[in-house]
Amino acid sequence: MIPSNVRNKIVQDISIVEVVSEYLPLTRKGNSYFGICPFHDDKNPSMSVSDSVKMFNCFSCNTKGNVITFVSKYENISIDQATIKLAERIGMKINTNISKEAIKQERLENIMNEACKFYSFYLRNSEEGVAALKYLHDRGISDEIIEKFRIGLSPNLSDGLYQFLIKKGFSELDLIELGLVKQEDNNRIHDIFRLRVMFPLASSNGKIVGFSGRIYTPSNQAKYINSNENVIFHKGEVLYNMHNAALPARQMDKIYLFEGFMDVIAAYRADIKNGVATMGTALTKDHINSILSITKNIVLCFDGDEAGIKAMRRSAKMLSSYNIIPEAVVLPNNQDPDEYIKEYGAKQLEAYLISKAKPVYYWLYQLAYNKVIKNDIASVEEFKQSVFNFLSEINQETIRDYYLNQMASDLGIDINSLKKDFNNVKHQYQSNQNEIVNNVVLEPTKEVVKLSEIKITKAIRRAYQIIIKHSIYDHKKLNKYLAYTQEFYPGKDLMTEFSIIQNLELEVLANPKLINTSKFAANNINALSEEPSFKEYIDLIINDDLIDISNDDDFEQSLDTIKKFIKKIKTRDIKNRVIRGDEKAIKDFTASKKDENNI
Ligand code: CTP
Ligand code: MN
Repeated sequence: MIPSNVRNKIVQDISIVEVVSEYLPLTRKGNSYFGICPFHDDKNPSMSVSDSVKMFNCFSCNTKGNVITFVSKYENISIDQATIKLAERIGMKINTNISKEAIKQERLENIMNEACKFYSFYLRNSEEGVAALKYLHDRGISDEIIEKFRIGLSPNLSDGLYQFLIKKGFSELDLIELGLVKQEDNNRIHDIFRLRVMFPLASSNGKIVGFSGRIYTPSNQAKYINSNENVIFHKGEVLYNMHNAALPARQMDKIYLFEGFMDVIAAYRADIKNGVATMGTALTKDHINSILSITKNIVLCFDGDEAGIKAMRRSAKMLSSYNIIPEAVVLPNNQDPDEYIKEYGAKQLEAYLISKAKPVYYWLYQLAYNKVIKNDIASVEEFKQSVFNFLSEINQETIRDYYLNQMASDLGIDINSLKKDFNNVKHQYQSNQNEIVNNVVLEPTKEVVKLSEIKITKAIRRAYQIIIKHSIYDHKKLNKYLAYTQEFYPGKDLMTEFSIIQNLELEVLANPKLINTSKFAANNINALSEEPSFKEYIDLIINDDLIDISNDDDFEQSLDTIKKFIKKIKTRDIKNRVIRGDEKAIKDFTASKKDENNI
């Protein structure tokens, strides 16, 4: 990876507005520029680009970042490749070793992509493919899914893939490094994957970096074999299906975390497209960081067996160091989503995954409680130990108390003696835990509060409606509102309101001559109603007789409400950045404190 000081310099020295406007048209509004977001199916310009904060930000799909991330995402190239590309613009020389690395990475990714095409082709056009397709279809995997997940088949040949790739001109050494082929003692080269259903594994930008092959014929070989680790593939960094799940997860502000391929695919069949899998390995910090760049609402969906419970506990503990309490769903009878969908169907899986998502501790408690035999002291003790065990890993006193109370009432025992028991053993668990914590897990606690978490009250929504109606008829009021909202995104709960105001602003810019006539208002109403998603809402506001556009006091009051709301969000945002040690934020924070004192 190119060092961060190089990347920072590029971000500082290059105008993000200039770069983005080479990819898509931008319209200036105040200090920011707006354009149609290329990262989701955008109809109104939802993406702002700003040189003052050196960021782009789509308030609709939540994709945001700096100039390097923009180029990387837009061109579907790695961060390093984007950095090199941008460095050229400002005549900056990047250490040739680094650019060599980036070039190599691109070459290897290209090989993986060709291998994937080969496996796909082979599934469709070979004798072995007939049985393999039948296997997939029998497991409920349709052709559409095969295509979506780019599932393929490795042939029953000693060097089918090897021959194919060599003829394309790729180097033997690259193929060996990628773990696609292997050199035998007799110097012959042969394919690693033979007669397996092939699942390509992609990095979060959608490039194939590895494969996992599942055996589908009777055999005593391992069920899955995976590509070996190499410069482009690190199993602990990859989450299966992340490149497809990122957008729906962003839009729904939620992600499901499964154990395996088949679980992700079963969820997909049940219309849950925001699912990824750790592929059997334990959750890593890299996994968590990649998830947290999308959402902090995580639903763990692991098996209900010993291993699954352990993985749930371990993941919950890791996430608690990020101040996150995940939810969990455990399917009945120890089934995984794939087994469940087979027995009960897609609709039922969808309903179950959605309705049974509860805080992970609820499940840990419930699973332990289901096993307890109440008149058996040993069994009760075992239950207590297992609950104490996870309770000692919780930072929040209130949650701990909640489950201790629950346990006292479920067991019909005195809460105080239970608490004593717990306090007696707590330190034992905690000292174990500290060891683990010191060895592997922790980063400094990050607290990330998203704007969308700020509660949108009825009063705030009403204030927006009043501002909208007034602004439709009077451009001065619109400008008055806009003066307070530059560089501000109210989060997705208020997306409609925000988009309407943005569209109004565009109307004003486009029709300067119509300002403040009844024609101006009619024009605005027409333009807004053209957008189906606004139509009903606009009708509602326009026809709401309780909003009286001649009452300027109402407007001023609403504006006050919104100002306070924005101030609250900004203060919280600054506080969060202060917690994270952002120096600029610390300055802003001190300044805002001074402001407060002056008011
Ligand atoms: N896994 C692996 N190597 C194995 C077994 C499992 O890499 N030998 C990974 C795979 O990513 C797999 C996940 O662990 O998807 C979960 O394993 P398991 O539950 O055994 O597999 P399923 O996903 O249920 O697959 P199937 O239904 O085909 O048995
Ligand atoms: Mn399975």
